[in-house]
Amino acid sequence: MTDRFPTADSVLDALTKGGGGAYFGEPVTVLEHSLQAAWFMERKGGSPALVVAALLHDLGHLLHGEGEDAADRGLDTRHEELAAEVLAGHLPAAVIDPIRLHVAAKRYLCHANPRYFAGLSPASVESLALQGGPMNDAEAEAFLALPHATEAIALRHADDAAKVRGLAVPAADAYRERMVALWS
Ligand SMILES: [Fe+2]
Repeated sequence: MTDRFPTADSVLDALTKGGGGAYFGEPVTVLEHSLQAAWFMERKGGSPALVVAALLHDLGHLLHGEGEDAADRGLDTRHEELAAEVLAGHLPAAVIDPIRLHVAAKRYLCHANPRYFAGLSPASVESLALQGGPMNDAEAEAFLALPHATEAIALRHADDAAKVRGLAVPAADAYRERMVALWS
């Protein structure tokens, strides 16, 4: 398999150059959303791995080639798996697991907290149905037993908050050093 992202800079490049498209019915682009998620995670005191995970959690949306209306067409692109797959050879589990689990974390939170579901954006509700809907008791228990489940939930909260039109946040470069330090 070719290594799609041989360096940390190649990922940042893809995000900054390819992330300008609309973000699935939200009022921000994929890049704005990613930068906001990283910034919110940083302000919450997230570890470097979790801040980098927040920055890259939606990289898969730039890779699946299904277009911005995938959910409208009834398609779950499994973007969380895509991103985890292309990055797994270079970044540690503390980054990869929360990325892979950030959709499961949404399904978990919908099960655990009815108020969480009520606060989801319309686009997020639409994709939830395609992603399997809220977890049941057994699924929730299994999810919580996974490594980095707690971190995935923290990432999910940053993800949900990161949809603010026009919010000024640091650019991707602000996270480069942390990403390079984690990259192998
Ligand atoms: Fe996201």
